[in-house]
Amino acid sequence: MSQQLGIPKAAMDALIQLVDHNAEIKPGMEVLIGAHLDGAYGSANYVDPVAVSWVQAVCASRGANCTVLWMDEIMKKHEWRFPPILKGAVTNADVFFNFSLDLAIEENAEFRGYIEECKTWYCRMFPVTTGLMMSDWARTPHELVVMARHLSSNPFMNHMAEFEMTAPNGSELSGNILDPVKREGIPGMPYNSWRKDASHYIPWPEWVHPPVNCTNVNGVLYFDRMLPYWGRYMGLPPVWETPIKIEVKDSKMVSITGGREADLLKHTLGELEERAGEGMKKFDTFHFGIHPNASVTEEQCPNAVYRRIVEHSGPRCVHWHLGSAPANKDYNFYPHVTGDLMDIDLKIAGKAAWEKGWMLELDNPKLKKIADKYPDLPGIPERI
Ligand SMILES: [Fe+2]
Repeated sequence: MSQQLGIPKAAMDALIQLVDHNAEIKPGMEVLIGAHLDGAYGSANYVDPVAVSWVQAVCASRGANCTVLWMDEIMKKHEWRFPPILKGAVTNADVFFNFSLDLAIEENAEFRGYIEECKTWYCRMFPVTTGLMMSDWARTPHELVVMARHLSSNPFMNHMAEFEMTAPNGSELSGNILDPVKREGIPGMPYNSWRKDASHYIPWPEWVHPPVNCTNVNGVLYFDRMLPYWGRYMGLPPVWETPIKIEVKDSKMVSITGGREADLLKHTLGELEERAGEGMKKFDTFHFGIHPNASVTEEQCPNAVYRRIVEHSGPRCVHWHLGSAPANKDYNFYPHVTGDLMDIDLKIAGKAAWEKGWMLELDNPKLKKIADKYPDLPGIPERI
């Protein structure tokens, strides 16, 4: 935490993208900001109160009424709560900025359902500190990132197209893509739908393409990282030493091997299977980050968990879901355990979609056109 000296220009660039372009804060709106008190002193719910005050100040400058709620609750594994006092506040807010790691819409089914029921715009805050708020990742024009997400769907709109995914670490997977518009009997949204048309969830910065459902998946995945939400409950660091190997046959995990890390993963997947059922054996869904500037330095973010979350949100990182079991009445959470794969090559219907970690849709001229509108903000980086 630092002393409040004013908002630096770099952070203001980012805050304008957040407040005006993503959340579209207008005079008279009721704005709620939620964060964890212990996160300000070093818990997993990492937060810098100065960053919170910056969001509050810029919302107030737009004429909104802004309330900051500091939660103080130790969340328990498998018993995460949508704290009832927070729920009441969310009910009466137009927009909710959430700095929590524990309360994630990706995992918590009650929270996910309620956001759509009460129709409060929900903004998951990834830049939780002043350093992150000043990064190129946060300063990238919202419009550019949203368009990158939209365009990144282009290769996946071909129902039953064959895919081949490989990576330098020896991973090799193949199967068929299911397009949620054309497949029968399975609910879903078009991959290229816009966030604000599809739900009330507006993460900032925008981070991932919707999950791509697949069938006939076979092959082998090696990985040494996952999203830390689950990793921290397994005793796995954000990136670990001995890669885990998962063999996949007909869209099911048939073996998980490696070192100590593989044992920790197997233990947790077993635990989740008891709660969420057979679906935890499935290996049929992947998706990927879409933010063109998803990288921060250790100086900008000393917290390894958040650096990993940023890395996860860029197109160099594709992640497979290790199990795809839905929430149920006895276990109201979506287990979102991920195997994150870096720098893939991906072919769909024989055509390259990724080359050595570069998502080819980043070369789409539509992105350059948007970047040109913001000459002082980060655009699409040079292809490495
Ligand atoms: Fe995912």
